[in-house]
Amino acid sequence: MPALESGHPEDRPRVLVVDDEKFIRDIIADFLGMEGYIVRTAEDGTSAVTELERARYDMVISDLKMPKMGGLDLLKEVARVHPDTLTVIMTGFGTVETAIDAMKRGAYDYILKPFKVEEIVHIVQRGLEKRRLAAENLRLREALSLYKVSEAIAASLSLDEVVSTLSDSALSEVRSDVVMTWLADGEGDFTLRSLNFSSLLEEGEELGGLDPAKVVERLASGPVTEHGARARELFATHPARQVSSLIIVPLKMRDRLLGFVATISLTASRRFDEGQRKLLSIIASRAAAAIENARLYEDLQATFQQTIQSLARTIDKMDRYTAGHSERVARYAVNLARWLGLDEIQIEVVRHSALMHDIGKIGCVMNLNKAGKLTQTEYEVFKRHPTYGREILDPIKFLGPVIPGVHLHHERWDGRGYPLGLAGKDIPLIARIISVADTYDAMTSDRAYRRALPHEVTVSEIERCSGTQFDPDVAGTFTERIEMLREELRASGVEPPE
Ligand SMILES: [Fe+2]
Repeated sequence: MPALESGHPEDRPRVLVVDDEKFIRDIIADFLGMEGYIVRTAEDGTSAVTELERARYDMVISDLKMPKMGGLDLLKEVARVHPDTLTVIMTGFGTVETAIDAMKRGAYDYILKPFKVEEIVHIVQRGLEKRRLAAENLRLREALSLYKVSEAIAASLSLDEVVSTLSDSALSEVRSDVVMTWLADGEGDFTLRSLNFSSLLEEGEELGGLDPAKVVERLASGPVTEHGARARELFATHPARQVSSLIIVPLKMRDRLLGFVATISLTASRRFDEGQRKLLSIIASRAAAAIENARLYEDLQATFQQTIQSLARTIDKMDRYTAGHSERVARYAVNLARWLGLDEIQIEVVRHSALMHDIGKIGCVMNLNKAGKLTQTEYEVFKRHPTYGREILDPIKFLGPVIPGVHLHHERWDGRGYPLGLAGKDIPLIARIISVADTYDAMTSDRAYRRALPHEVTVSEIERCSGTQFDPDVAGTFTERIEMLREELRASGVEPPE
């Protein structure tokens, strides 16, 4: 291995040589110094401990027998205060047993006196290389799990998903016993959104909640790490278990506090360290961005739903006989879609298409409220409404998926419908579904020119027109299951048509 010549002095490994014989200290220091290490010396265990408090060391090479504090006691002290520092013990032939004993207690290696200097250089190089690799491995593992967590958080679209990914990863990656995620409710309060715990806590066991006001106050000056009694002070009620350690980091976007996440260790021997705090902070910053996104997405979804509902009401307002028609057609169509096995995304398209199916009536300049049947001319105008519907929705990109249902809901299975005269499966399934739902609601509602028809009559009419006006599969499914839906409606307090 080449000598360490380049690099900033801060990056060069530091070795502390401890021996009561000056000659031995100096010769080891000289040789390791020539290899590029930063070397300091101490004459006994006590002065070594003082030096270790003053500066960081990668390795301590210590004689076994020294006045004041001996090598074994020094080793114990290093293991306790600087667990990452490697230790090598030097000993004479008569005390090999003790050296082996030292290794059992965590010393990295031992050197037999008298030694060859090359031997020491070799042990130091080997030890520090092993330590470097171990640290690198750890960093890689951390980076990898962090990458996976970040990916999972970024891929979550809903708020629930983001929060559950955040809590799961805080529990496993930070190695904690309890994770609590609190979110701001937009009115200045914080509520517990999720509570995760390791197998240490019994199912249903209550730990006691944090006091959000105290926590938020503390978070003003950054993440909070507390142990023991000081950690317990942050709870609203005295926690039922001993809290060994706790980290709370804010979920922050720019200057806004969206919430916070707390990891708690109930294990006396597991106090959180700086590394865990950093890890949680990184996970939390990814989560905060994802929470913000999920909120924006939810807002957008709500705006979308509200826009569609408002448009549907506009349609129904044009004609006093069709009040609530769009919403009822949507209800029948959604159930029919579900019975036919469509997936949730398609079902949403069915819902929106059904709500909008008659929007083109806005374009028909005629009195839709007139008593009696439409004249031939009026009927020709009326028949344009599916085409108008398509034209009205065309500029709104996000409504693109609803256009086929709106444009083609008056097509017939036998090809005798309008506006295109499509037949069979050339008519999109959504339009075939709306066609049945629309007809059922129109027949069971009062119209300007007739009273509502009874449910039974309507069902037999749909059965009669199955295969001519309607897709037989769609019509068959509807007439088979409509009774069940009527039961459900009654159970939920909605009176279905007679
Ligand atoms: Fe229509």
